[in-house]
Amino acid sequence: MDGDERATIEDFFAEDRSFPPDDRIRESALLTDASLYEEAEADFEAFWAAQARQLSWFEPFETVLSWELPFARWFEGGRLNASYNCLDRHVEAGLGDRVAYYFEGEPGDRRTITYAELLDEVSRCGNALRSLGVERGDRVAIYMPMIPELAIAMLACARIGAAHSVVFGGFSSEALRGRIEDAEAKVLITADGGWRRGQPVALKPNADAALEGGGASVAHVIVVRRLGEAAPDTAMKEGRDLWWHEVVADQPAHCPPEAMESEDLLYLLYTSGTTARPKGIMHTTAGYLTQVAFTHRYVFDLHPETDVYWCAADIGWVTGHSYIVYGPLANGATSVLYEGTPDHPGRDRWWSIIERYKVTILYCAPTAIRTFMKWGSEHLEAHDLSSLRVLGSVGEPINPEAWVWYRQHVGRDRCPVVDTWWQTETGAIMISPLPGVTTLKPGSATFPLPGIGAEVVDDAGRPVSRGGGYLTLTRPWPAMLRGIYGDPERYTETYWSRFPGRYFAGDGAKLDDDGYFWLLGRVDDVMNVSGHRVSTTEVESALVDHPSVAEAAVVGATDATTGQAIIAYVTVKAGVAADGAHGEELRRHVATRIGPIARPRAIIFTEDLPKTRSGKIMRRLLRDVAEGRDLGDTTTLADQSVVEELRSRAAEQPAEE
Ligand code: PRX
Repeated sequence: MDGDERATIEDFFAEDRSFPPDDRIRESALLTDASLYEEAEADFEAFWAAQARQLSWFEPFETVLSWELPFARWFEGGRLNASYNCLDRHVEAGLGDRVAYYFEGEPGDRRTITYAELLDEVSRCGNALRSLGVERGDRVAIYMPMIPELAIAMLACARIGAAHSVVFGGFSSEALRGRIEDAEAKVLITADGGWRRGQPVALKPNADAALEGGGASVAHVIVVRRLGEAAPDTAMKEGRDLWWHEVVADQPAHCPPEAMESEDLLYLLYTSGTTARPKGIMHTTAGYLTQVAFTHRYVFDLHPETDVYWCAADIGWVTGHSYIVYGPLANGATSVLYEGTPDHPGRDRWWSIIERYKVTILYCAPTAIRTFMKWGSEHLEAHDLSSLRVLGSVGEPINPEAWVWYRQHVGRDRCPVVDTWWQTETGAIMISPLPGVTTLKPGSATFPLPGIGAEVVDDAGRPVSRGGGYLTLTRPWPAMLRGIYGDPERYTETYWSRFPGRYFAGDGAKLDDDGYFWLLGRVDDVMNVSGHRVSTTEVESALVDHPSVAEAAVVGATDATTGQAIIAYVTVKAGVAADGAHGEELRRHVATRIGPIARPRAIIFTEDLPKTRSGKIMRRLLRDVAEGRDLGDTTTLADQSVVEELRSRAAEQPAEE
């Protein structure tokens, strides 16, 4: 670049396919033009106020927004209840018989729960919590498998004004204890266990371990009997532990909802940093509910009377909070809730679920899509997927090839794919297409939604109009985190200090000539190769672009000559030879696709990639493996054996080419 300043993150990968909204979607779409964007640009506060008025309020709000950077307060003066908005108002409107959840357990057990039944259960659970001394303003910890009682427990907390703190059921007892202690939870709701890959997995012993020598704030533990006979030895501590079916079932089915203030805490959700103490992300009531309901309706083009919606995330993550529980229920949608893994009893479990319930909208993560690519499309072909209308993606950048595969094989070339960018901290979707409006480009999350301000900036915080940089948010939004529980300074420091006046999300992004946003992964993952700042996402997309590759993870390992060298971990599709010649071909492919600077120094073939429990590739760990360093803390790894495997493969690689 001849003495010019280097770009913040360089822009190598070009994707030129595009898909305008098809007529089938446009015929019935909620929105087919740019009117909402225009309305929101003219006055974003008025726009959000109009969305907030779609909720049911006990008292209307007086102000829309008060903004003392970085602290926002939305819809003050108003009073409402989240569980009332998710349940009572639909039942009162005569929709009590509409299905809220089709639950399918992993062993094949099924339950259909209507809105009226859900309201009933939530009310009983709310009364049970009240009977145990839980009051408005308290916190309740929830540690459960993916069963309806998890959603019921969350809504029961919301009903009585207690904040829930859901801890993903795959986390360890130490993780649970730390989160209970940080939140000073009064009650813990858990289960005897759940089903995973055909096996009963006990959970209660972990809950007990978490409360041994800690978690002193917990006075009672409520235990759902999910495994029953399959967990015969569930120990119950006298005076502390109660069975759900005993304490909940006997309660009256009427439980008046608390009239909460707009800014009252709805929940805490801890994000697990790899090194630092987990952060208790705070979400409050009115703004959160406004934005999750709005985005759920428009991003998925929801028609609640006819759609059957399935978000295949775990409720333990923010995706499940916003798009299995609060968003869909606030909109009166019918959802599928599935307990288990996609390969039990066969690799077509998801497709049989879609066929059975005639799912119309599917929302899942790129990691799942790439796994299905690896397994091969034959598992889908025997199933009727013609009910599907809209497909969504979340959690990681989706490589263009995975996007196209998703559209082609799952969507049968008819369904738009909406790639949705957001975070635990943002609470709701921020950057995403709208199915009836946006021309899609595979791998791009396209544009900020109406009302959202997003810009890509360079190192100095200057907006970039084309090319790569840091993704920042330029104005407050209703579902934004209100802080980190108990640590306001850390909130300001973590999110608002890198670029003054802007929220910095930690992600890199680039803008193309048409102003489309392309997410480039975490900026910590950007590699520096001979002074070029290369995004891992772009090299991964170039690899997945090769027809033999299902999944790729790319890291920069320290290199004496180039600063960092690109090391690629690659999973090939079934039946492809993973040998040296093929590695050479992939290196060449990357060089041709995006340029010689991005040619990986080494390709390491692997059956599987190490992932966090929410399915994100652990690049930090792969970097350590590549550099032959100690592995450090790998407790959030999905499968420990992968690390060993990767370590031995890395050791076989020549240090230099
Ligand atoms: O790096 C981005 C990535 O996931 C991060 C947020 O993770 P979490 O708080 O666990 O929430 C996940 C579910 C919203 C982001 O900072 N990410 C999420 N969605 C996308 C994404 N990266 C690229 N494209 C996306 N669509």
